Amino acid sequence: LRKVALAAALVVAAAQPAPDEAGLRIYRDGVLPSGRPLRALVDGDVELAGPRAACANCHGRSGFGYTEGPVIPASITGPILYRPVVIARPERETVRTEGPGTRPAYSDETLARAIRDGIDAAGRPLDRMMPRYELSEAEMAYLLAYLRSLGSLRSDGVTDSELHIGSVVTSGVPPEKRKAMLEVLQAFVETKNAGSRQETKRARARSVFMEREQRAYRTWVLHVWDLEGEPATWPAQLEERYRRQPVFALVGGIGSGSWLPVHEFCRQRELPCVLPTTDLPGSEAPDFHSLYFSEGIPLEARALARHLRDSGAAPASIAQVYRGGEAAQVAAARALARSALALGLPEPRDLRVDAADPLSADFWRGALREPAPAVLVLWLRDPDLAELGAITTSNADVAVYLSSSLVEAPGALPSGVQPRIRLVHPFALPGTLETRLRPARAWLRARGIPAGAERVQANAYFAAHAFGEAMMHLLGNFSRDYLIEKLEHQLSSLPFASIYPSTGLAAGQRNLSKGAYVVRLGTSPEPALVAESEWITP
Ligand code: HEC
Repeated sequence: LRKVALAAALVVAAAQPAPDEAGLRIYRDGVLPSGRPLRALVDGDVELAGPRAACANCHGRSGFGYTEGPVIPASITGPILYRPVVIARPERETVRTEGPGTRPAYSDETLARAIRDGIDAAGRPLDRMMPRYELSEAEMAYLLAYLRSLGSLRSDGVTDSELHIGSVVTSGVPPEKRKAMLEVLQAFVETKNAGSRQETKRARARSVFMEREQRAYRTWVLHVWDLEGEPATWPAQLEERYRRQPVFALVGGIGSGSWLPVHEFCRQRELPCVLPTTDLPGSEAPDFHSLYFSEGIPLEARALARHLRDSGAAPASIAQVYRGGEAAQVAAARALARSALALGLPEPRDLRVDAADPLSADFWRGALREPAPAVLVLWLRDPDLAELGAITTSNADVAVYLSSSLVEAPGALPSGVQPRIRLVHPFALPGTLETRLRPARAWLRARGIPAGAERVQANAYFAAHAFGEAMMHLLGNFSRDYLIEKLEHQLSSLPFASIYPSTGLAAGQRNLSKGAYVVRLGTSPEPALVAESEWITP
């Protein structure tokens, strides 16, 4: 009978996707090689089908298991399933191989029985939460092949003694911001390595047993990937850097313009990309491996549209100014136009400026010429706003909206125009921010890093510490999928804060923060920003 089944599996294989791919689709998506949904019974009689039956739902993409709910799904990666689970008691140097909490190694036969009938390798019933699956011999063969491969390959960028991590800096990032980001990452890696040297010494002194040995500490090595030239050339540069020295993950990093080329690289390589500083993550399709602080400037545009609709009478007309050569500014303008349409606001009139055009007093007077807009939205950076004062000499009663992520020193704007200005502000408000950043500031001071480019430093601090925390919880299982799963679960409960008010990920989410305030400039110097709206989550 088994021979027949095997032959059938081979025939199927000829007409179907490669075994690895077929097993992966069952495991992650709940789709059988025939295209039909995977089926199972859970908790006795509840039927599960398709994506809801997929193993990844409970055991995670990594196979190392999620820890939600009362029953902890077991780790089901190949190396773990095919070796016995024993209870080691290092202090007595004993190992128990029988009784509660242990099981012998699985074989293909007992593993198929566990998946179909819920009986573990020791012959005991598994918890009712583990579904009982309907799978043919061929389908089971694909699934087992996939489980065997899961977690058995060592990830790129990890050796017995080193863990390599990368950090991307794109062209167009001002040198002082690059420096601010890298100083924090470098200090983090040094601190980490100094700590590990201590740990290793202590562990040796105690001559501890097994587990500890397997988790031997690795030296972290940081590689800075500076991308040069046009974004179209970045993918090749990223490939080249990766080929020269593969990394386990990209941590922090900073980009100018669209981050999309890096996002795409990480998607294709299944490489974790942890919390870069960027105004434009650049992808509307979230990817498992990339985590962002926020959706960037398009989110601000959507929050602004919501605010314009909800605060009093909707404006009679809107105009927006942006530089055509700036990807983030163009994306903001597009997002505002889309949201205006969706919310029944007037279509914004575009005042697009080219790279060479200075924004002179004449320009601003021109922008307000009849028909003068009721709302003027400026997706511009500080240097472009030097002559904005010209607006006050016109009679138009215009409200001016700026973006807090583009304008870094709103207090330095021409004073005459300040009362008309509102900023879309995706960060925590000044008072709260002080408290949130206190630990980061103390940490920087202790390492002799001068304060500067505050948001960049704070983001790098948060990204590095979040990554470090998650790495600790991998317990030596260097799986990239597991790293992302750990981050997903830990980000909301980390003992330190980012500059963004909310920091949690619900299932499938990839942006930590999902909203913005609208603020005005206060008259007293500190705090200079006063909230005019609640936290808006469009
Ligand atoms: C609804 C959640 C859920 C889904 C979906 C799920 N499992 Fe499980 N699984 C569990 C739980 C919970 C346990 C732990 C049971 C226990 O401890 O008794 C478990 C245990 C197991 C075990 C036993 C591990 C051991 O060490 O004895 C295997 C093997 C397993 N699952 C494989 C799979 C495979 C393969 C799939 C997909 C075809 C899958 N599971 C889908 C929840 C789930």
